[in-house]
Amino acid sequence: MNTSTSVKWLEEAWQQGAAKTIRNAKRIKDTFPHIAPQGAYDRNDPEWWTAGFWPGLLRLVYGDAPESEAAAPLHRIAESCERQLEGCLRDPESVDHDLGFIWLLSGVANYRQTGSADGRRRGMLAANLLAARFHVRGEFIRAWNFSSSAMDTRGVAIIDSMMNLPLLYWASEQSGDPRFRWLAEAHADTVAREFIRADGSICHVVEFDPHTGQKLREHGGQGHAPGSAWARGTAWALHGFALSFRYTGEARYLETAERAADFFLAMLGEEIVPMWDFRAPAEHQVAWDSSAAAIAASGLLELAKLSPRGETYAAAGERIVRGLHEHYSSGDSAAEEGLIMQGTVHYPEGRGLNVPIIYGDYFYMEALAKLRGHAGLF
Ligand code: GLY
Repeated sequence: MNTSTSVKWLEEAWQQGAAKTIRNAKRIKDTFPHIAPQGAYDRNDPEWWTAGFWPGLLRLVYGDAPESEAAAPLHRIAESCERQLEGCLRDPESVDHDLGFIWLLSGVANYRQTGSADGRRRGMLAANLLAARFHVRGEFIRAWNFSSSAMDTRGVAIIDSMMNLPLLYWASEQSGDPRFRWLAEAHADTVAREFIRADGSICHVVEFDPHTGQKLREHGGQGHAPGSAWARGTAWALHGFALSFRYTGEARYLETAERAADFFLAMLGEEIVPMWDFRAPAEHQVAWDSSAAAIAASGLLELAKLSPRGETYAAAGERIVRGLHEHYSSGDSAAEEGLIMQGTVHYPEGRGLNVPIIYGDYFYMEALAKLRGHAGLF
């Protein structure tokens, strides 16, 4: 950020997002919002993978000005969310690979911000449950728990899981026990080998034989089809591999993050927000995903600090965030609780098309926080 014009848009964007989050907190309180299709956020279950993003958003805003009177309730609400989330840890069949999304943004964030012993304890418990999902023969962290006629989910891994690995890296740092980190690295290596295609595109879901661990097939998942390029999955990959490099210093993760970033940026071109799948056929080019743009922007700003090509990634990340503010933000509008419009949850299932989504809002604010010199929560 080097001109007064750029600082002005950034301050305006952050202050609008922070003010709206403080206002939203008065209504949403300690519930778990997911999407805001009609202006107001819905309420979701604490078991759902998105349950950490609201406490995470509260903590981003609280962390910016912890002494301010307006921010104080945010910490209390985030703690109440965290206590409810702890209930989910008692049922190992309701938790899945997304423990990182949930606990990095709740308990671990609380521990980092306030030194909360409960936050640390809950984060370590979540890390142990995540580690227990490791498939020894296939060397991946098992994704979901549900049963499906389309695939044997006992042998399934998904690209989103890359964002959960920092919980394992953190657990090794906290405990001095390297096992968590080894599992995370083994999973990252499997994903780099089996999910990233020769042209740099990335698949969402890979099915392995649950008994031998051998790769069986690719599934389209939330993308259009096998061989397509789900935009948010590409963003998860670029951001997740950048974080794996930040925690481990292993150059192969930086290279993978750069490949994913280069593919994302090449497909995005001059746009700010991608279509839900970069390879969606013409008749399905009707839904955009601002959450993919926000996740990618925050990841690019991470890469900016890590890569020899950091200036390119910094410029690309800032261009996207500024574009989100200027063209997709709800700004000061009292009619919209969502911060950025036009995210897409799951196009193939027709769920949440062109709506504000809580993780879009979280990563938008995380990217703004990074541009203002703060760290994100991952
Ligand atoms: N299933 C994770 C996502 O929608 O990105």
